[in-house]
Amino acid sequence: MIARLLCCGAALVVSAVAFAADPPATAARPNLAPVPAAQAVSNHSPYLTGECSICHQGGDHARPGPVSGGANSSCLGCHGEFRTPKSVPGHSASAACTTCHNPHNSRARALLHK
Ligand code: HEC
Ligand code: HEC
Ligand code: HEC
Repeated sequence: MIARLLCCGAALVVSAVAFAADPPATAARPNLAPVPAAQAVSNHSPYLTGECSICHQGGDHARPGPVSGGANSSCLGCHGEFRTPKSVPGHSASAACTTCHNPHNSRARALLHK
């Protein structure tokens, strides 16, 4: 609940700044598609509520289209605290969030790929 409240006020400012800092896509890109719901161990709140258009250009669940802006900027709009290094390994402004996290759900805890 706190994350939700924090996100909205900061979102506009954060996304403009974060976009320029988004890292380039890597060659070894993990599969970022949602996993079948029955196999999901962790679920991301904005995905569960069906609001694809929070991150995607479209809201059609079958084809939500490309993400709006860089992938990290859509994350940092709500998780702005991850723009500075945290105690969790890899949490720096320079790593793509989706290197480790699926933005929808996953077969592991904390939306991790594994
Ligand atoms: C929190 C942000 C976020 C939300 C909400 C979200 N997505 Fe995504 N989605 C992403 C990102 C980031 C990618 C990766 C885009 C890329 O790298 O090209 C992605 C990619 C995808 C892909 C393609 C996977 C692939 O391998 O290319 C599908 C399918 C998808 N999303 C479906 C959905 C559907 C359906 C919803 C709504 C029910 C949804 N997404 C909601 C962030 C989100
Ligand atoms: C619309 C706001 C919003 C956006 C955008 C968003 N998140 Fe989240 N995220 C949440 C909320 C709400 C939670 C639930 C936990 C909380 O309250 O902090 C959450 C939780 C998480 C968790 C913890 C999940 C768990 O099971 O412990 C991870 C990891 C995460 N988000 C990663 C991302 C990544 C990566 C992106 C970008 C692709 C992203 N988020 C974009 C709102 C958002
Ligand atoms: C190098 C891998 C890696 C990258 C890159 C990464 N994370 Fe994480 N993240 C983790 C791991 C591992 C955990 C689980 C920590 C635990 O529970 O022990 C985690 C946990 C989280 C959580 C839930 C725990 C918390 O402290 O609230 C959120 C939210 C989150 N990450 C957001 C992000 C965002 C946003 C980005 C991009 C800016 C990102 N992560 C990039 C590895 C990563």
